[in-house]
Amino acid sequence: MCYYFVMYYDRISFINNQLQRKVRRMKLLKERIRREGNVKPGNVLKVDMFLNHQIDVELMNEIGKEFKRLFGDKKPTKILTIEASGIAIACITAQYFNVPVVFAKKAQSINLDGDSYTTKIESFTHKKVYDVIVSKKYLSRDDRILIVDDFLANGCALLGLIDIVKSAGASLEGIGIVIEKGFQSGGKAIRDMGIDLKSLAIIESMNAETGEVVFSDED
Ligand code: G4P
Repeated sequence: MCYYFVMYYDRISFINNQLQRKVRRMKLLKERIRREGNVKPGNVLKVDMFLNHQIDVELMNEIGKEFKRLFGDKKPTKILTIEASGIAIACITAQYFNVPVVFAKKAQSINLDGDSYTTKIESFTHKKVYDVIVSKKYLSRDDRILIVDDFLANGCALLGLIDIVKSAGASLEGIGIVIEKGFQSGGKAIRDMGIDLKSLAIIESMNAETGEVVFSDED
């Protein structure tokens, strides 16, 4: 009886500690977005101070640990991202999973030699269409893929990566995003596909005039 109580108590404390760590980590990220994020007209959030130009490696480590906590049980064999900003996040995250990173390359013109998986991405944010490639050498049907990226807006980049995973016949185990702009359509579209998408900070709204950023899970 006492043994079971101790086991139960240990399990509850473990879950409690994990949740507290999660709350601390995500608080850290949201504080940085509030403090250093710059809301630009057109619903663009600049976070060059710690994510997209200068990189805060300590914060990246917390992000990597959180992705490990969220997706550890999926046992991915590779982490897939897209250049440029996804690479740093993927590399730090991969250290916690002990798996390689593969990043999709944006190509101006593609050489259709059959050695690569290719897809087209139409970015509403950047107002352009570009080809994306991943060599067939680095993705196979035996792979279990975790996709990570910095931003999720309309989701065009992610849909391209999902397409590449499908072409390879690999299994998509989940998607981890650092900042989701919840007021844009990408998150809903991808969740509606039944994909396990988790975002560390979801922005409900932001205001270019006041600079205010409101997160979706806050009062
Ligand atoms: P889209 O379909 O609306 O274009 O959005 P998507 O979710 O595919 O994101 C497209 C690119 O735009 C991504 O860059 C993403 O990081 C970036 N992005 C979207 N919204 C914002 C924003 O508010 N702030 C910032 N800083 N970036 C945003 P990418 O293709 O991964 O390339 P890169 O920018 O990492 O080189």
